[in-house]
Amino acid sequence: MRTNRPTMLAPNPIEFFRREGYLVLPGFRSPQAVAALRARAGTIIDAFDPTESRSVFTTREQALASDDWFLDSVARIRCFFEEEAFAADGSLRQDKQLSINKIGHALHDLDPVFDAFSRGPDLAALARDLGLVQPLIWQSMYIFKQPGIGGEVGWHQDATFLHTEPLSVTTFWFALEDATLDNGCLWVQPGGHRGPLRELFVRAGRRVDKLRLDDTPWPTREQAIPLEVPAGTLVCFHGLLPHYSAPNRSPVSRHAYTLHATCASARWSGSNWLQRGPQDPPLRGF
Ligand code: FE2
Repeated sequence: MRTNRPTMLAPNPIEFFRREGYLVLPGFRSPQAVAALRARAGTIIDAFDPTESRSVFTTREQALASDDWFLDSVARIRCFFEEEAFAADGSLRQDKQLSINKIGHALHDLDPVFDAFSRGPDLAALARDLGLVQPLIWQSMYIFKQPGIGGEVGWHQDATFLHTEPLSVTTFWFALEDATLDNGCLWVQPGGHRGPLRELFVRAGRRVDKLRLDDTPWPTREQAIPLEVPAGTLVCFHGLLPHYSAPNRSPVSRHAYTLHATCASARWSGSNWLQRGPQDPPLRGF
């Protein structure tokens, strides 16, 4: 197995990003900023009435089709349950705070604490260095990877879900807790962003489908490396970089916060599941 250590010390981070398709920046956000975001997420879950929706988030095929709770979360703040959150009788198997898979998808535009965390001159400069000349942040997700039941996120490329022509989506993934092999850290395929886009998530009205574009296989375990990173680390990756995370069977959660940004000069696909209308908050950068 290859080690991820050299990425921490890359002498030329931008050149490293272009070659490997990702970048690990430890200490990008302070412990105080991380604590504020975690506390805010807890408040949002406290206020969430679980009888409002039993919507779960899963990456399994077709599971998202016709889920209104998901499709209408584009410009809202909504909680999604872990797939394994419920007992056979429909009751929660553990506390509500330990049952949520993620919160999405407009935290960065609607919540002041998330807005502050998601923007600033440091991120604006980094985005520019990574090639986003006119960045637009399309979505934000707070991901919990709950202890014991945190679901697997299978191999995928983020450009599958956030497509532009030319491709421009770039992911900003913040570790809010130490991410380890035990609690389901990210795995990436170094250099894998030079391969083709394999799948495309296409929305038509209230229906979404995943189309197969290319039969290139997903990376083997030997081609992938785990990104074990401490809380406060920012991991950036290219929209074509294959990545995945294992289920979390450990007693420790693995909170993370992600932003997905594109370049305004690229054309946002009309078939993307996420579309903002005139009634929604306007798109902004960093
Ligand atoms: Fe992803």
